[in-house]
Amino acid sequence: MQINLKIFRYLPHTGNKPYFDKYIMEVDPTERILDVLEQVRADNDPGLAYRRSCAHGVCGSDAMRINGRNMLACKVLVKDLGSTDITVEPLLGLSVLRDLIVDMDPFFEHFRSVQPFFVNDDPLPADGKERLQSPADRERFDDTTKCILCAACTTSCPSFWANGNYVGPAAIVNAHRFIYDTRDTAAAERLEILNDQMGVWRCRTAFNCTEACPRDIQITKAIAEVKQAIQTGKLE
Ligand code: SF4
Ligand code: F3S
Ligand code: FES
Repeated sequence: MQINLKIFRYLPHTGNKPYFDKYIMEVDPTERILDVLEQVRADNDPGLAYRRSCAHGVCGSDAMRINGRNMLACKVLVKDLGSTDITVEPLLGLSVLRDLIVDMDPFFEHFRSVQPFFVNDDPLPADGKERLQSPADRERFDDTTKCILCAACTTSCPSFWANGNYVGPAAIVNAHRFIYDTRDTAAAERLEILNDQMGVWRCRTAFNCTEACPRDIQITKAIAEVKQAIQTGKLE
């Protein structure tokens, strides 16, 4: 099939403003957008810049805006877009470093701010082995373990666009993963961090994050659970 492809370009070292490159291409409908970008790099412009690593929806590095929606370029097929006009742009809300590459530093700063790691300084059980957990307790936070830190959620959030100091849905998801882990002992600290004016209360339940997540994580639900835990002081 033939597609009309538009790719956002920004080359700061030239001093030029951002612009779009346009291509009319023959592609197979089952090709992924990442394949199409690779083809452009191979045939037209080896300087086209974007992040990618695994090419299988695991590393989270190739989130970008495709026809106005945040997606992983390696997970979306041309035929799934339902249009022969395809526009590829960088994520919103983070500054563009070059072409489709955005500065992820603010995103990872928010992620780090919620202590996204296991905390437990208590002595190990008497047998010196693992800290055991029931299957039901493990299930409680299973959904939020699936995050691959692609930033598709945070960069689709209107509250984050309005104020980049908002910690954002990805950071809350990763806090949720540890807050609800019965083996962890720092839930109260994380809830205090998220009770900040740039924390969970900036979420206006827009649901863009949940729609954008390539891992189908119930992000808005997780945020609601964290809000409830702050209000009630209970982890249910
Ligand atoms: Fe990406 Fe989903 Fe994690 Fe957000 S919650 S960073 S959209 S995987
Ligand atoms: Fe933003 Fe998601 Fe809340 S899009 S406003 S974090 S529900
Ligand atoms: Fe790794 Fe797409 S390249 S998720």
